[in-house]
Amino acid sequence: MHAKAADRLLHHYSNHARVLPWRAPPGQARQEPYKVWLSEVMLQQTTVATVTPRFLRFLERWPTVDALAAASDEEILAEWAGLGYYARARNLISCARVIAERGGFPGSEAELRQLPGLGAYTAAAVAAIAFGADAVPIDTNVERVVARVFGLTDRAEVTEAARTWWPAGRAGDFAQACMDLGASICRPRQPLCQSCPLKDDCRAAKLGTAHAFPARKLKKARPHRFGLAWWIRQGDHVWLTRRPAQGLLGGMAALPGPEWGDERPSANPLAIHRHGFTHFTLDLMLVPRTEPTEEGWWQALKGLADAGLPTLYRRAIECALAAEREPRLAA
Ligand code: ADE
Ligand code: SF4
Repeated sequence: MHAKAADRLLHHYSNHARVLPWRAPPGQARQEPYKVWLSEVMLQQTTVATVTPRFLRFLERWPTVDALAAASDEEILAEWAGLGYYARARNLISCARVIAERGGFPGSEAELRQLPGLGAYTAAAVAAIAFGADAVPIDTNVERVVARVFGLTDRAEVTEAARTWWPAGRAGDFAQACMDLGASICRPRQPLCQSCPLKDDCRAAKLGTAHAFPARKLKKARPHRFGLAWWIRQGDHVWLTRRPAQGLLGGMAALPGPEWGDERPSANPLAIHRHGFTHFTLDLMLVPRTEPTEEGWWQALKGLADAGLPTLYRRAIECALAAEREPRLAA
């Protein structure tokens, strides 16, 4: 019965697969490992809609892994700006250089797993999608679909069920079929079971409890942190610096300022920009200064889009510029 369900899902996928620039059409020759790897790294924690244009730009600029390996850290980090989770970009750079050095991607899940930035999911995804290996990549969409179809709530059971369900020889298409189903029909809230190719196979649908899988996690309150950023502006230029290579936003262009902390500093900011990181919320207080305080460069405000700023600083600068145009009374 589960083999039939897998066939139904593959059949549905052959008619409804999303057309994505890193994807080969269902059942057709596989996509280059470089494209699969690059897309999977970008898609970790970033949506398909955001990734698609960024992926195309990346590929145009660096059409091969050798080209990427030859680029400078700064160029790559700047091209990554706005995609978030900058540790991914640093791993991407290290990985590209390892691949260029060894003369290509390894084809097995175990070898892929050894590369910088390739966790269990990504190694399995590249092995299955780019190399046709019988690997089982389990991301949140796959996990939800499998949990519902089999009526499971335990992660280890989901992994086990996925391994038995996965059709040999079609691992890459099947994974992407699950991802597409999870993104469109078997979505987290209000799944469209009536339109689902698995409706007659699905335990959760039979029980009428699809919405309950996987059990909702309670959101933890995010801790709060505070930072100072020096707003040093001269005419059409603002002073930027580069963050230390290690740590959050490592190596990225930034506004200068001391390390962030848990205490609200006493300062008289021009503006305060609030930014949500995964693990905490930051209040970045923008404090005007007249002279540069640390190494950096004058960045033309007109060329801000090309400065490779992560979203935090891009927005903080917009916030400071708006506050300068329209000063509010300080509280
Ligand atoms: N999310 C992660 N990998 C994906 C893929 N190959 N297709 C669609 N969504 C994805
Ligand atoms: Fe998900 Fe409903 Fe399809 Fe089951 S029938 S896989 S719950 S959309």
